[in-house]
Amino acid sequence: MAPRALILDCDPGQDDAVALLLALASPAEVELLAVTTVAGNVPLARTSENARKVLELAGRRDVPVHAGCPRPILVPLETAEYVHGETGLNGVELPPPSLPLAAEHAVDAIVRLVMERPPGTVTLCPTGPLTNVALAIVKEPAIVPRLAEIVLMGGAKELGNVTAAAEFNFFVDPHAAAIVFECGAPVTMIGLDLTHQVLITEERLARIRAIGTPLAEAVAGFLAFYNRYDRERYGIPGAPLHDPCVIAHLIRPELFRGKRCRVDIETEGRFCRGRSVVDWWNRSGRPANALVLTEADALGFFDLLVERLARL
Ligand code: RIB
Ligand code: CA
Repeated sequence: MAPRALILDCDPGQDDAVALLLALASPAEVELLAVTTVAGNVPLARTSENARKVLELAGRRDVPVHAGCPRPILVPLETAEYVHGETGLNGVELPPPSLPLAAEHAVDAIVRLVMERPPGTVTLCPTGPLTNVALAIVKEPAIVPRLAEIVLMGGAKELGNVTAAAEFNFFVDPHAAAIVFECGAPVTMIGLDLTHQVLITEERLARIRAIGTPLAEAVAGFLAFYNRYDRERYGIPGAPLHDPCVIAHLIRPELFRGKRCRVDIETEGRFCRGRSVVDWWNRSGRPANALVLTEADALGFFDLLVERLARL
């Protein structure tokens, strides 16, 4: 089967970085057309620098990086240095990137790549706030029927992580998330219910470090930093490795399970801004607009991740 053409729209962030590396390590399954960056975990300048640092760490200066939106559509930007550190990739010192940013804006790159490629062949993989993806849809609605699907990390059927109600990516730009879930494209939502089953325990961190390459050492270094906040906050044995689940789903979909549901995004409300309202029992009677994945084979996921990181 031909590799799936994808665009990774991200806000690196340590977990986004691992998602990017997993994509780069899987050329038989994934053709990475471009990386587009958005403000989220850290400001846009940092996410755009980090994406290029990770590409150079993997020796892949051939992949274009397009910077996108520096802030959400309507609400002010809120970042997460408290999780990811000041640089967004704390835990490792990588050299400043020599790879220049592509001149084309991320929104224009998404539209161009989807319109250039045959219908139904490009998958969008957002792992940050959905600002770039939403504005691409607004700018050129014709991309919607041409998309193979949108496989995103965001949302939650149950509790949020930035408020009790909302997951970070949807909280940061709730209006963008609403546009994406209402656009009509096939959406697969990988939310916190699933990613909190995929924890970077010390044993799994040791498996990554035992790969023994400079790249694996760098990954173990920044994941060790990334681990600390959620371990303390949740009292769990490791932080959830959210974003690589998006790429793992494309490579080995059998690792994950869920069902099709209606999902609506709350954009107002004092307590529920960014909430993904997952109509799991179809109380609304409205048609499903997303495949909501809620179960993960964590061991299978980490076996895949270690095997693929060792290839780089
Ligand atoms: O809530 C987790 C998500 O928000 C992940 O994508 C993480 O990188 C941050 O963007
Ligand atoms: Ca992210």
